[in-house]
Amino acid sequence: MSAFLKIGHRGAKGHVTENTLQSIQKAMDFNVDGIEIDVHVCKTGELVVFHDFTLDRLTNGTGEIGKKTLSQLQNLQVEDQYTIPTLREVLQLIDNKLLINIELKGEGTAIPTCNIIQELINDKKWSLDNILVSSFQQNELVDVFNYDSNIPLGVLTKASVNQAIVFAKTINAKAIHPSFSLLSKNNVQKAKEEGLLVNAWTVNTKQAIKRIKSYQVDAIISDFPDRL
Ligand code: G3P
Ligand code: MG
Repeated sequence: MSAFLKIGHRGAKGHVTENTLQSIQKAMDFNVDGIEIDVHVCKTGELVVFHDFTLDRLTNGTGEIGKKTLSQLQNLQVEDQYTIPTLREVLQLIDNKLLINIELKGEGTAIPTCNIIQELINDKKWSLDNILVSSFQQNELVDVFNYDSNIPLGVLTKASVNQAIVFAKTINAKAIHPSFSLLSKNNVQKAKEEGLLVNAWTVNTKQAIKRIKSYQVDAIISDFPDRL
């Protein structure tokens, strides 16, 4: 394994339609160390793996994902040839073989995600070392922390590394997840001095990958994990 973790963004978004089982399989075929996916809660309460809050960009459906039942979502086509997976299906595919970074997108995603994590840990099907829950939504991260402070957390930011560090300390987060455009050698160093891992996203070009690697980040999340 290299000095930093190689994480596929939404599976291997640069190769296969994002957040599909096929995209995740593609990332696994590239021997990634981890896979980032996005989750929402649908109308019937299940967690589904999808990035957008609305269905229009990627599916033959329209409207908000949170207002559809699971069976309505499962009947949609994603870019003509795929379907929307549930978080459980994704966890089954990865099967504790590598790190899953679950990004909580929609409101109310924290508790159902924690319920699934707790069940898998209790059943000894997953290790907490292979789980990282991240979000831009501070209230969702606080909900996870209050549910079980041992669940590893990552604070996402596209605004400020410093603010992410400050908030991360309040919820005992393991990592900050800054947009790579925010990073410098100095702020990566500062986060590490605060005891936080730095996982950068979404780093796609060879030039950017080289620069971000040189800051000694702990993980790089990329649409093209094969380039890492
Ligand atoms: O988790 C890293 C990255 O996925 C955050 O942004 O919009 O791609 O989910 P987004
Ligand atoms: Mg994401």
